[in-house]
Amino acid sequence: MVHSSGEEQDADTPWWHDAVFYQVYVRSFADSNGDGVGDLEGIRSRLGYLELLGVDAIWLTPFYRSPMADHGYDVADPRDVDPLFGDLDAFDALVAEVHDHGMKITVDLVPNHTSDQHLWFQEALAAPPGSVERDRYVFRDGRGVHGELPPNNWTSVFGGPAWQQVPDGQWYLHIFAPEQPDLNWRNPQVQADLEHTLRFWLERGVDGFRIDVAHGMAKPEDLPDMDPRLLNVDGLTAFAMDIHDPRFDDDGVHEVHRLIRGVLDQYPGTMAIGEIWVGDDDRFADYLRSDELHLGFNFRLVDARFDADSVRGAIEHSLGAVAKVGAQPTWTLSNHDVMRHPTRYGGGPLGTVRARAMALVELALPGVVYLYNGEELGLPNLELPDWALQDPIWERSGHAERGRDGARVPMPWEGNQPPFGFSENGAQPWLPMPDDWESLTVEAQLEDEGSMLSLYRQALEVRRTSGAFAGDELEWYGAPPGCFAFRRKGGGLICALNTSAAAVPLPPGDVLIASGPLDGTKLPPDTSVWLV
Ligand code: GLC
Repeated sequence: MVHSSGEEQDADTPWWHDAVFYQVYVRSFADSNGDGVGDLEGIRSRLGYLELLGVDAIWLTPFYRSPMADHGYDVADPRDVDPLFGDLDAFDALVAEVHDHGMKITVDLVPNHTSDQHLWFQEALAAPPGSVERDRYVFRDGRGVHGELPPNNWTSVFGGPAWQQVPDGQWYLHIFAPEQPDLNWRNPQVQADLEHTLRFWLERGVDGFRIDVAHGMAKPEDLPDMDPRLLNVDGLTAFAMDIHDPRFDDDGVHEVHRLIRGVLDQYPGTMAIGEIWVGDDDRFADYLRSDELHLGFNFRLVDARFDADSVRGAIEHSLGAVAKVGAQPTWTLSNHDVMRHPTRYGGGPLGTVRARAMALVELALPGVVYLYNGEELGLPNLELPDWALQDPIWERSGHAERGRDGARVPMPWEGNQPPFGFSENGAQPWLPMPDDWESLTVEAQLEDEGSMLSLYRQALEVRRTSGAFAGDELEWYGAPPGCFAFRRKGGGLICALNTSAAAVPLPPGDVLIASGPLDGTKLPPDTSVWLV
């Protein structure tokens, strides 16, 4: 097998060592049956595109049975496909075809909570306080004389209190929406069920998992109050706070990851990546110890501003954290939970130019890259009208936070009007697509050498085939203010970024790719370049 270094891959090097993953937000990728929602058949019909793009693996967001209160992250049956997305036969066909295309397939796992429609939760509601049925979740009596107050002051990540009262007066914990009750990870049945789910999908041929809220699951036994400074911080970025938050990163969580790893080790060649919103490098590294997860999302590039020092800080922290445990770093600019990066970088033409520059920075780094569907088209985040908003954050925050829908608008494939080939029969997509996306479609960008899609294709090809990307170590060059340059020590690739307002001299070497036009021997503002 040919490795990204252009050399034969070492038998001991796992396939994901420097793989490029492509996140498919299933609802928004391709709709094969004309109901306006993406599905498994839709993905299968577009695998040729992913091969052409040049990615190594895909990650599918949840497609399991779900009432869709959080668009599939509220799982009612983790071992079946929701009819909205297809069925198990469609899944098996997809796995086989992904493999035929020479790619790997990984799926989401949601161990922190279930849907309130999960059989277990329905049983828990029907059973009395103190029952074995209630013990699978986190039920507690309330505070106050009559238990009329929630058991502690925890807030939900989606806004409002993290507790919901049931008719007999007890309360249950939901770190996310009330339709997502948290499981009790001290309960052996909960542990056994996760193992069952892992094996179910592994036996069907998946190559790995993305673990949702991998820093959740375990909670301190006495459920202490949160630091009041955390109470007014809503939204997913609250995860990145430095103040210790008892809802997350409890030491008990590592037992869950050892359980997951124990199962995966019985299926050679499989892997797991955790969604780990933990800011402390040491605590982050703990998740990647040799008997826990293989990889972790750290979101430092998501949090970084378009500023050389900020980006360099994110890179150095990420590398430093994984070095503590000898794990591979992972890089991500966007996903279904955050504002798309062209918009974060200022939006409009400037945001796009900067997104091009950051794409080359990300793809120059050693380790694993996760692309989010549509980023290769340069899709912006959208301001959707109120009526279109579906993310539970919108309602839960009392309309203070618009939520994540703007990053989840379906993919434009072809044509000159919505739904741009997303739905087979031109049906209304589940989120409205803007009229002016004609120039952003795959069709429009494929043959255009100056397009974002062409930049990604070219960069991915060079990354895959050039020896310059060998080795995992970086060294930094001195660079003018607002700029940086690093070199991959093994293969010699140099990547330089200019976030300053003035053009600066290029580092020495032959240019492989630049994110925009160069100014003679100078690197213009908002531009990056690869050299050897
Ligand atoms: C993760 C998912 C997010 C979801 C949440 C609750 O953060 O990425 O989309 O809402 O978990 O499951």
